[in-house]
Amino acid sequence: MQPLSLSVRLFGRAVWTAIFENTAFEDAQQGELLSKLHSLEALRKQAEYDTGSISTITAWSLFAAVRTFQPELILEVGTFIGKSTIAMGLALDQGRRPGTIHTCDFSNSFPLPALCKSPIVQYPKKMSSDMFAAMLASGLAGKVDFVHLDGRVAEQELPVLASLCKATTVFAFDDFEGIEKGAINYMKMLESGLFQGRILIPPCSEEISRRFGLKDASRTALWLPNALINITAQ
Ligand SMILES: C[S@@+](CC[C@H](N)C(=O)[O-])C[C@H]1O[C@@H](n2cnc3c(N)ncnc32)[C@H](O)[C@@H]1O
Repeated sequence: MQPLSLSVRLFGRAVWTAIFENTAFEDAQQGELLSKLHSLEALRKQAEYDTGSISTITAWSLFAAVRTFQPELILEVGTFIGKSTIAMGLALDQGRRPGTIHTCDFSNSFPLPALCKSPIVQYPKKMSSDMFAAMLASGLAGKVDFVHLDGRVAEQELPVLASLCKATTVFAFDDFEGIEKGAINYMKMLESGLFQGRILIPPCSEEISRRFGLKDASRTALWLPNALINITAQ
């Protein structure tokens, strides 16, 4: 007998469709999310290092992923003007359990406005390695449920990151294309062998984002623990 081969592209389509269908009843809130994220653009004036922020479809992908998996503790590398942080915070606000986000940025130091109710612990002007060490010192080993990487993580930081995570931690990589940082972070983590038992879900295609009322292709890939994928009868 020959096994059936399913490409990550095909499987990814099914996963993003399920994630967006899961959040479809919240379509009405898309407008509120987008206007809050737009207001964050004003923070660029305070930025010491003015760089890229996430696109609308990427923000919605992150919102929908957090809304679906309902993590209690999120770790993020790369706060900048906080579009990704606030998108995840707004998704936490609507979950059944309270959730907290820890986020760091080594080049900027301004506080984010309170656009969501969920607590955000900022580590301004701090490298990811400093935040990981501080989180470990606060007793958060093995407690992180969801990681959003929108910065570059060094190989030597991976063992500490792994010790903050659990077998069911979901990873989201921004800039997942070509040789951009998302793809590089993923390759480093894969090669480290410290984060096994996960399947890569490439960023959602333009075709899927259009189906859910948004333009463009997303740049956020997910790395999902096999244990969080449930095939149901209907
Ligand atoms: C693309 S921006 C983040 C955009 C942000 N997620 C948003 O939605 O507005 C990346 C930021 O991460 C910071 N960064 C990159 N690598 C980092 C690291 N290892 N530790 C802390 N900050 C880092 C950069 O200085 C930059 O400000």
